[in-house]
Amino acid sequence: MFVALEGIDGSGKTTVSSGLRHKLENDGIKVYLTHEPTFNVEDIAGDLISRRDSESALKLFFMFTEDRYKHQAEISEKLDQGYLVLCDRYLYSSFAYQGSLLEGIFGTREKVVAWMSGVSEIIKVRPDINIYLDISADTAIKRIWNRRRITGFEDLQYLDRVRSYYTGVLRKHLIMMNGEDPVERIVGSIYDIIRR
Ligand code: TYD
Repeated sequence: MFVALEGIDGSGKTTVSSGLRHKLENDGIKVYLTHEPTFNVEDIAGDLISRRDSESALKLFFMFTEDRYKHQAEISEKLDQGYLVLCDRYLYSSFAYQGSLLEGIFGTREKVVAWMSGVSEIIKVRPDINIYLDISADTAIKRIWNRRRITGFEDLQYLDRVRSYYTGVLRKHLIMMNGEDPVERIVGSIYDIIRR
């Protein structure tokens, strides 16, 4: 089984995925935890990540898609070996983070998503379920503030737009969770969904 965890920065994906891993491993399930991007964004993408123009977003979209294209082979191998693969961010991170900056080119969100879906046809390994942890951009900024590292992706207005992709045009692909609930409750709910 392949599970992707989605959400804006600060939504708790990392804490939730390690909690989930622990719980599933206690049941004797082999869990492979992985993350996208597989590269360090600041090192590889430089100041592209703090730009909010469509050309930078296009470049980033291709970079993340190429990264995913390679990553899917590793995921597929682990699935064949009987692992439950838990991936912190996957396809819909690109749709939400880069898509929200491409509307100027395409006109509507639906057209942006249709184009991204076409390009992403090279991604053959798809999650069985995509879980989305919803938090407000306000909560995100408060949480990120407490961390040491803040990336160029993280500003209130932008995160709010990214969120509106997840909760709007992408909603039908996602299982929605309230990311402001206590971590144990979120982990428990996702665990129940996976077991079912
Ligand atoms: P990272 O430092 O790994 O943050 P996190 O642990 O919160 O996921 O950086 C990931 C950043 O890259 C995050 O701000 C979102 C962004 N991103 C995209 O913009 N598009 C993508 O396709 C992916 C996978 C990530």
